[in-house]
Amino acid sequence: MAKNPMRVAVTGAAGQIGYSLLFRIANGDLLGKDQPVILQLLEIDNEKAQKALKGVMMELEDCAFPLLAGMSAHSDPMTAFKDADVALLVGARPRGPGMERKDLLEANAQIFTVQGKALDAVASRNVKVLVVGNPANTNAYIAMKSAPNLPAKNFTAMLRLDHNRALSQVAIKSGVPVSQIHKMCVWGNHSPTMYADYRFAVTDDGKSLKDLINDEQWNRDTFLPTVGKRGAAIIDARGASSAASAANAAIDHVRDWVLGTNGEWTTMGVPSDGSYGIPEGVIFGFPVTTENGEYKIVQGLAVDEFSQERINNTLKELEEERAGVAHLLK
Ligand code: NAD
Ligand code: LMR
Repeated sequence: MAKNPMRVAVTGAAGQIGYSLLFRIANGDLLGKDQPVILQLLEIDNEKAQKALKGVMMELEDCAFPLLAGMSAHSDPMTAFKDADVALLVGARPRGPGMERKDLLEANAQIFTVQGKALDAVASRNVKVLVVGNPANTNAYIAMKSAPNLPAKNFTAMLRLDHNRALSQVAIKSGVPVSQIHKMCVWGNHSPTMYADYRFAVTDDGKSLKDLINDEQWNRDTFLPTVGKRGAAIIDARGASSAASAANAAIDHVRDWVLGTNGEWTTMGVPSDGSYGIPEGVIFGFPVTTENGEYKIVQGLAVDEFSQERINNTLKELEEERAGVAHLLK
């Protein structure tokens, strides 16, 4: 018997990430090849943006996706998020050359207060929220705090792009294909302070990637800066921030959350439950596994001195960002 359609709300739907994302959702890449979807698309209340959104919807229509059971355009989050099962909060101002993601804090914080309140009011009580718009962790924190009637665990931030970037760099260095690398993780903030960590990574046959690479200097001087500053390198090269890889990471994040990782680790930015000494509620990148639509933070990992320093550093930045938006949450 055919499944009932799931409602997927996407903000910033006429933006560059939106353009890479929507077609894959409609193709079944997000929720499964047997899961019909209804797209509820939000753009700003501006003639140009709404017109561009209509254009994207015409193209979606022209794909005749068998799983696309409906779609609608919105300029009000209260209608866009109605009964949403999944909400992808992409819409926000992206950074340009020379900016850090936290420079977007003031510009984007307002958006996530309003959208958090709207989710609280009208979304499904089980809505799975992924914040992509930067600064993603703090925006997710704002949305979560603005939605007191929804479970805090439903709010997540995207670190999957960093996770995927880390996988590829380790694969290139070690010669082990990405598909054979397990137990990668990225701790903390989606910012250059993130701590991409391959200490636990192993190959299919259980060999340690750390041992295979055996190059601490590469870790410190090449790997960490490459992954941490990859977003800026892409802005520099493309003249625009990452879009297709960001959309791909958003698909990976939600698909794994909904459909499960079968014991594999992935990275999600989730509200801390106090694990690894991260204060409760801070949206922090952790290694997780997922099953039956729930994620679990991987427990019991050893944190050496170098790693602790990195974790403290990225936490400090998140706490500063949190203090910077406290006035908006009163
Ligand atoms: P873009 O400028 O191409 O598109 C953003 C769209 O959002 C625009 O169409 C804009 O009209 C819309 N928008 C703005 N405010 C809105 C609101 N309040 N409600 C609904 N729509 C709104 O930008 P993009 O390249 O698609 O990037 C979007 C965001 O994603 C940026 O903040 C960017 O920094 C971030 N990003 C995050 C990651 C990550 O790994 N977390 C990766 C890449 C990009
Ligand atoms: C990225 O990591 O590519 C995005 O967060 C965009 C950016 O501003 O770096």
